[in-house]
Amino acid sequence: MRTVAWADGVVRMIDQKRIPWALEVVDLPDHHAVAAAIADMTVRGAPAIGAAAAFGVALAAHTSSATDLATLRAELRAAAQTLKESRPTAVNLAWAVDKMMALAAQDGYASAQALRDALREAAQRIADDDVHINQRMGAHGQALIQDGDTVLHHCNTGALATVDYGTALGVIRAAHEAGKRFHVLLDETRPRLQGSRLSAWELEQLGVSYDILPDTAAGYYMQRGEVKLVLVGADRVASNGDFANKIGTYQIAVLAKENGIPFYTVAPTSTVDLNIASGADIPIEERDPAEVTTPYGNALVPAHFKARNPAFDVTPHRYLSGIVTENGIARPAFTESLRRALAGEAL
Ligand code: MRU
Repeated sequence: MRTVAWADGVVRMIDQKRIPWALEVVDLPDHHAVAAAIADMTVRGAPAIGAAAAFGVALAAHTSSATDLATLRAELRAAAQTLKESRPTAVNLAWAVDKMMALAAQDGYASAQALRDALREAAQRIADDDVHINQRMGAHGQALIQDGDTVLHHCNTGALATVDYGTALGVIRAAHEAGKRFHVLLDETRPRLQGSRLSAWELEQLGVSYDILPDTAAGYYMQRGEVKLVLVGADRVASNGDFANKIGTYQIAVLAKENGIPFYTVAPTSTVDLNIASGADIPIEERDPAEVTTPYGNALVPAHFKARNPAFDVTPHRYLSGIVTENGIARPAFTESLRRALAGEAL
């Protein structure tokens, strides 16, 4: 089952807030509900929210009663704005919405209905492409994993973070499907616990050997020589290779370098933002402090205790051994290798 899909005039998605306790799907009737589901992380992970937003634009067209193209386009512009504002860091969201709006702006639609049909097909293509791209990244990246390795992973980058298959966890899945035997250490990933709730749930089903770690234990296992490789995802990669990913990624990158461990991010080219020169330009989302003090409604401390909750951090490119893309593994200097990857060249 796909993480997000179009189903008879609604956007259907797995409710990731309920996993691993329940596998529930929600049907969203309009683009406002899609934007709310992105904001409250019913759907999360950069490629998954990109696909959800693309379906959100298609849904805005589907639910509109506009009978002429100009009215429909005006409504779509408002919907695009609402969807883009739902979360700021992952560039896949803006990338997908911009792609849909560029299509909507094209000439040649015979009617408002023709534009509606084209948008639904385009959103479906974005979703289908995501799965194929992840499988290609898996094929390139699995060469990094050897029999007997222990791989450290942060957050959730699997089927749930994408339409299906996954990015960094997709590489782990591809290595497993290739018959390699290895172990995965999953950072639990406070405060939303994407590692312990979502990645462990996925590896359970795939039959990949894993242990959940408190985030604070990653350095301990690296220092003991138990970690051979670090794989993470990305929410936005700047043209110089600096990248934003789940909070805690930066400290893992520094510890990996200190301990001489290869550190890779796995990201489709839709996560690369060539419009920004460095990570300093990436907007970082700050979420509700209640996610820290009261995760999933469980009060860890009294309600009036203060907290901060940055959702992402930026890792400078000097910590990266490489970026696994669908076109191959980009290596330093990233300005050049990423430009080639985005031009569709095989790396
Ligand atoms: O806040 P989240 O759960 O949406 O953050 C997700 C991540 O940081 C992932 O590592 C990233 O989106 C890449 S997932 C393929």
